[in-house]
Amino acid sequence: MAPPPPNISFAKRPCEDARVSAFRIVVLASGSGTNLQAILDRLHGQGLVEVVGVGSDKPGAGALERAARAGVDTAVFPADAYPDRMGRDAAMGDWVESHHPGLVVLAGYMQLLTEPFVARFAGRIVNIHPALLPSFPGLDAIGQALEAGAEETGVTVHFVDEGIDTGPVILQRRVPVPVGRERGVLEAAVHNVEHELYPEAIRMIAEGRVRIDPSDPRKVAIDD
Ligand code: GAR
Repeated sequence: MAPPPPNISFAKRPCEDARVSAFRIVVLASGSGTNLQAILDRLHGQGLVEVVGVGSDKPGAGALERAARAGVDTAVFPADAYPDRMGRDAAMGDWVESHHPGLVVLAGYMQLLTEPFVARFAGRIVNIHPALLPSFPGLDAIGQALEAGAEETGVTVHFVDEGIDTGPVILQRRVPVPVGRERGVLEAAVHNVEHELYPEAIRMIAEGRVRIDPSDPRKVAIDD
């Protein structure tokens, strides 16, 4: 059964001394972490957003090195260290929660999250996907677009629900497939757009400008 629509509010909370505290995010990543790097370079430590933890399922993930270099706390949750996915996600959820994040940011996190994890952080998990959802969900979205003969694909930032790449869309940007249809060229173009779009979406959320429409939980409203 689908969880109730999240009642989210991303407004920043004032500190006791009346200044405004940074919006805390935890990033989960499985791979090289170029999206994490874009978030670190464009948002982290500049007052609005603080990356307070980076978690991974892969002990050797480049994302962990990038986090360590930035002085951000890291943790690894490999599948084989837990009896099942529920156990792994319960432990990871406890670690995430211990950092009191306003948002959990999936940046190339390639494991399916269990329903209890999604419910625990309902309306506070975002993902980036290298396609214009609902086209090409799931694995190897860039390969899917090339295989399908698409002339354009793109990038989607969306809230995470219990489905695979099905949550409400926050931002999307188109990327034309290059004339020669070379995978490497398309990948580079998609990544360039990702590195712009994800920090932009997280910034809007941190500024309290993004709301799930209460009258239609499939829709996201963005305030100017
Ligand atoms: C990114 O292209 C991201 O969109 C994709 O993994 C890559 C991670 O790259 N995520 C998915 O396909 C999720 N379905 P990075 O480790 O360099 O940030």
